[in-house]
Amino acid sequence: MTTALPLPLFPDSATLAGDELVVGGVRASVLAAEFGTPLVVYCEQSLRARARAYRAAAPDALVAFGTKAFPNVAVLRLLAEEGLGADVSTVGELEYALRAGVPGERIVVHGNNKSLEELRAYAAAGVAQVVVDALDEVALCAEAGVRSILVRTTLDIEVDTHEAIATGHHGSKFGLPPELAMEALSAARSAGIEAAGLHVHLGSQLLDAAPGQAAVVGLLQVVLEARERLGGWTPSTIDLGGGLGIRYTQGDVPPTVDMFAGGQIARLRAEWTTHSLPQPRLILEPGRSIVGQAGFTLYRVGVVKSTGDGTTYVAIDGGMSDNPRPQLYGAVYEALLAERAAEPLASGTFAVCGKHCESGDVLIEEARLPHPRRGDLLAVPATGAYTLAMGSNYNALPRPAAVLVGSGTARLIRRRETLADLLALEA
Ligand code: LLP
Repeated sequence: MTTALPLPLFPDSATLAGDELVVGGVRASVLAAEFGTPLVVYCEQSLRARARAYRAAAPDALVAFGTKAFPNVAVLRLLAEEGLGADVSTVGELEYALRAGVPGERIVVHGNNKSLEELRAYAAAGVAQVVVDALDEVALCAEAGVRSILVRTTLDIEVDTHEAIATGHHGSKFGLPPELAMEALSAARSAGIEAAGLHVHLGSQLLDAAPGQAAVVGLLQVVLEARERLGGWTPSTIDLGGGLGIRYTQGDVPPTVDMFAGGQIARLRAEWTTHSLPQPRLILEPGRSIVGQAGFTLYRVGVVKSTGDGTTYVAIDGGMSDNPRPQLYGAVYEALLAERAAEPLASGTFAVCGKHCESGDVLIEEARLPHPRRGDLLAVPATGAYTLAMGSNYNALPRPAAVLVGSGTARLIRRRETLADLLALEA
């Protein structure tokens, strides 16, 4: 645990004005007063910078934003302006992408259990690729009118991340082992569908670029064997998935976009040349590394109290319903007091807990902060990915709003849920 102010974990535009956190030129206190708390704040500058980093590292690739990290029309539209597409895994995510104006040819479809009805919607939207995840999906694709597919394969590559978000091993529910992947490619060809190529996604929050390199080598082996077995078939497209991690704490050191994605692409291009394979079109699917650090959450502090064992709880007005990652993945976050950021830290640590009826509703077990008081604003960085996206209404708590900040202004990109929204579902 570090005692340094976690300002580097916040969006690129974050600074202090005196003691106060300012992002996109807007003070935290102004954001809270205007939009309420909890509030997820996205920095336009950071979003555009991450998108541009991918476009620079992979100028010829389709960079399809992993929509699941934060399905939001305004963010998808902003990323589309930067030339990105969308990776969608449900018809719902497809709808967000279409509403944002992402053209079908920049949409890639995933999902380990696609229905015929869903596949029909994907075909109707003219998506670039459907990524097949099971053998019998090929026949469904043919029936639905899907014209071109990739096959997701598992290469049995272990990654150093939480087991719930590792997907490259043979035990994963996603993808097919190489043998079956080749069968799927062959079945597609028999069904008159373009067997465009292969997809691999090793897992998420990867802080090491080496497994990505191993994936390229693994794919090469599958491609070489498929070329033999499928009468000279070679892939026109290779999709390398997403997975690049971000800094949640100051101890995390992720590779840069260029080291991670650029390195994979360089390796692939070289291996393909060595083996006289035609260079494929590449697809990348970054989610977290686009939106994760661009977002942070502002909470209002309520109760501050000490327990019998000496723990001091700082209760915020949200919790596991707006960020379930600590409960799901043991995720660790840092925080600062947004209007008292530069004040000296208290000697002990604070347990930042939510307002849900669960003892496990603890967002940060050991936060280093100046002694918090009721009414303080607490800012938690690196919450742009998989927070609101996985939010719930546990304890009938409406989900937070999201705003986009830049050039001194803030605009609502997702309104706060109301109790009326929740009650509207009751029959
Ligand atoms: N492509 C595929 C096929 C995926 O399944 C995913 C993420 C991505 C791309 C984007 O991966 P990223 O670049 O964001 O790592 N809820 C978890 C993460 C689940 C990731 C699901 N798939 C979390 O909060 O850590």
